[in-house]
Amino acid sequence: MSLNADPAFWAAADKHLTRYGPDFETIIVERAEGSFVYDADGRAILDFTSGQMSAVLGHTHRDIVATVDRQMRSVAHLFSGMLSRPVVDLAARLAALAPGLDRVQLLTTGAEANEAAIRMAKLVTGGHEIVAFAQSWHGMTGAAASATYSAGRKGYGPAAVGSFVIPAPNSYRPRFTHPDGSNDWQAELDDAFALVDSQSTGNLAAFIAEPILSSGGILELPPGYLAALKRKCEERGMLLILDEAQTGIARTGDMFAFQRDGVTPDIMTLSKTLGAGLPLAAVMTTQAIEQKAHERGFLFYTTHVSDPLPAAVGVTVLDVVERDGLVAQAGARGARLREGLLSLQQKYDCVGDVRGRGLLLGLEIVADRQTKAPGFELGAAIMEEAMRRGLSMNIVKLPGMGGVFRIAPPLTVSDAEIDRGLEIMSDSIAAAVAAH
Ligand SMILES: Cc1ncc(COP(=O)(O)O)c(C=O)c1O
Repeated sequence: MSLNADPAFWAAADKHLTRYGPDFETIIVERAEGSFVYDADGRAILDFTSGQMSAVLGHTHRDIVATVDRQMRSVAHLFSGMLSRPVVDLAARLAALAPGLDRVQLLTTGAEANEAAIRMAKLVTGGHEIVAFAQSWHGMTGAAASATYSAGRKGYGPAAVGSFVIPAPNSYRPRFTHPDGSNDWQAELDDAFALVDSQSTGNLAAFIAEPILSSGGILELPPGYLAALKRKCEERGMLLILDEAQTGIARTGDMFAFQRDGVTPDIMTLSKTLGAGLPLAAVMTTQAIEQKAHERGFLFYTTHVSDPLPAAVGVTVLDVVERDGLVAQAGARGARLREGLLSLQQKYDCVGDVRGRGLLLGLEIVADRQTKAPGFELGAAIMEEAMRRGLSMNIVKLPGMGGVFRIAPPLTVSDAEIDRGLEIMSDSIAAAVAAH
């Protein structure tokens, strides 16, 4: 019998764990290392979601382990008004990487960082209306959840007053098209902002956006879109908040995704990837915005703000990314992975689209290539087949789209691991298609 079937473990899990989302995997993870997690049978499973899209250095990276050990022995947590060297070091390092965003607050989770960003935008603009994409995910807490539209909206009472939404551009399923059939995102954006303007009571504070909407099905903002969005914000006195939870820290082949577009946001939030799997987040903004917020009494005072332990981890993450050339590596390994996914698209009709950037890629499964009818069941079957063969991938299901695999291996993934993942994907698609 598989050790994953441990009856006592599952009886306790079934009895005591709150079910907070989709079903739990049916394995027991005993440890993880590099690009793999290992189950109770000692089976190696390729982790193509980097944990929850966060473990950019792979699991149990030697330098992170050493930093946690060292920092734990000196100081891990402090009174929130006390400073330590790792905090100031990390703030300075981040500021140097994102010129213009000189002010940094260190927090814990992605949702929390977005709370702070939205709170700051409200205070500085005097407005309260927040616009986001209809396929967004910014977190599970108050303001972040009010700006999250891809899931979990129903059943929790009112969202914040002044929560507005526009469609994210989707080049595979465009809503507005040029005569050649390509996505006319500018027309879509103009149309969407006309609706925002008609709903607004004159209190617009910010637009919050992911540069690549991940939970929304790997929808990449096309070149030029961010600049156009920034203009829309400027025309209305709104701030642009970019949530780089998944795209930040080298994953897209740039240190931050916005750098490809040459558009600096007013506020940027980092989380997931910054701590490479440990809880660390940052809110970065300009001197001018920070100054104004401070003058107006900005308060975002939390238990773990400016904690030295996660800050030290963040410094090590940046050290490793720089030392090991992981920005360039994400680009190179991403190109290899994309090539492989494109050949899967050639081989299998159910692969409708391949998209994304660097090591954040999406593969959309459709039931019919012509009609682009969603292939949710097939997608779920492929995911199961892959897990059985030792590859963990995540699929998102959203109305109006096929099942989209979000593929984001650690930046430290090897060519051989990418090839192995692609092979498993191919076998899994073949098996799922044959069974359908
Ligand atoms: C883009 C983005 N922002 C924010 C969050 C929320 O982060 P957390 O779960 O750490 O609160 C997520 C989580 O998936 C995310 O993908």
